[in-house]
Amino acid sequence: MRNLLVTGGCGFIGSNLLRYLLTESSFEGRIINVDALTYAGNPLSVADLAIRGDGRYIFEQADISDAEVMGRIFDDYQIDSVCHLAAESHVDRSISGPAPFIHTNILGTYVLLEQARARQDQIVRFHHVSTDEVFGSLGEEGYFTEQTAYQPSSPYSASKASSDHLVRAYHVTYGLPVTITTCSNNYGPYQFPEKLLPLMLLNATAGAALPVYGDGQNVRDWLYVGDHCSAIWRVMTAGALGETYNVGGYAERNNLELVQQLCELLDEELGPLPGGGPRRDLITFVKDRPGHDLRYAIDASKIQRELGWSSEESLESGLLRTLRWYQANANWVEQVQSGAYREWIGRHYGVDSTDHREGEDS
Ligand code: NAD
Ligand code: TYD
Repeated sequence: MRNLLVTGGCGFIGSNLLRYLLTESSFEGRIINVDALTYAGNPLSVADLAIRGDGRYIFEQADISDAEVMGRIFDDYQIDSVCHLAAESHVDRSISGPAPFIHTNILGTYVLLEQARARQDQIVRFHHVSTDEVFGSLGEEGYFTEQTAYQPSSPYSASKASSDHLVRAYHVTYGLPVTITTCSNNYGPYQFPEKLLPLMLLNATAGAALPVYGDGQNVRDWLYVGDHCSAIWRVMTAGALGETYNVGGYAERNNLELVQQLCELLDEELGPLPGGGPRRDLITFVKDRPGHDLRYAIDASKIQRELGWSSEESLESGLLRTLRWYQANANWVEQVQSGAYREWIGRHYGVDSTDHREGEDS
C-alpha cells in the first residue's frame, strides 16, 4: 500500500483515521483524501495534516459518485489501495430525506468499486467501513455476529447494507481484494454535533435542553474512535480477503444512562450550572425517532481471535478525553455550528433534520 485512497477523510472517523495512519500506524505510503466537503466534512479537522509538508498527504475535493473525476484520481495518483468511509451518516437525516444516502452510499460505492475493478491488477486492498446498523435491531439479549442476517431499519442502514452487498459481490464475482468492517457507535474528537454524544455534550455545557428520544431505553454499544481506527488498520493489513469483521468495545448503555453519565462528568469537570442545578435536570424526553432500533450490541470475538485486536479505551476514559477535546477546541465547534452550515442543511434538505421531533412531549 503505497498510494492509499481514503474517502471521507474530512469527516469524523475519516479525520481521526488519517491522523492515526500518518502519525501512529505502520503505514509508510501517501494518502489521497477524497472528500466532497458536505456539511459533515470540514477541512479544519485535517488542518494539521495539510501543513505537514512531507508530501504524504494530498487532498482532492470530489464527489465519489463522479466516475470521470474518480477515474482521473485513480490514474493521477496510481492508487493501489482504498479505505472507503465517505457516506451520508446520520439516521435522522435519512428519515427526512433519503436521496443523498442513495446517491453517496450506494451509487458512490458502486463507482469506486468500478474504478477499482478497471485497475484490478494494481489494487491490493479495497476496505469498506460499515456499521452494525445493517443488522437491524436486537431484543434484550444476544449479539450481532458476522453471521447475523442483514435486516436494516432506516434508509441510512439500508443504504449501508446495499453498499456492503455490492462490496462483497465484487469479491465473489470479480475477485476484487475486499475487506469489510461493521462497527458499533463511535464517539470522540471531531464528531459533528448532530450525533448523540457531541450534541448532548455541547448542549449540557451550554445549559441547553438535552433531547432524549422516546423513553431513552434504546441501547447502543459505544466505541472510542481511536479504537475504531486501529481496528480498520489491523483489518487492512492482516484481514483475510473477502471477510467481514465486527468491531465493538463491549460498552453497552441505554441512551438515558449515557446522557446521565455525561452530565455527571460535566458537573465534576465544570462545576454545576450557573443556577446551581445538576445538568441531568436538562434532560427532556421528546418524540421518538420512527423505526428506532431498540438495541445494538457487537460480538467482536472474531477480530480479537483472528487478528489480535481489542479496544483500549474504556467508556469512562473515552468520554473524559472527548469532553476535554471539545473544551479545548471551541474554534472547531464554533465553525461547524456556524450559519454557513445551517444554511447548507436548509438548502440541501429543504427541511430541518430534526423535523420528526415536531409535537415534542415536553
Ligand atoms: P461523517 O458524516 O462524519 O463524515 C462523512 C464524510 O464523507 C464527510 O467528510 C463528507 O463530506 C464525506 N462525503 C459525504 N458524501 C460524499 C461524497 N458523495 N463524496 C465524497 N465525500 C463525501 O461520517 P462518519 O461518522 O465519519 O462515518 C464514516 C463512515 O463510517 C461512514 O461510512 C459510516 O457509515 C461509517 N460508520 C460510522 C459510525 C459512527 O458511529 N459514526 C459507526 C460505524 C460505521
Ligand atoms: P445517533 O448518534 O444518531 O446514532 P445512531 O442512530 O446511528 O445509533 O443516536 C444514538 C442514539 O441516541 C439513538 O438511539 C438515537 C438517540 N438520540 C437521542 O435520544 N437524541 C438525539 O438528539 C439524538 C441525535 C440521538
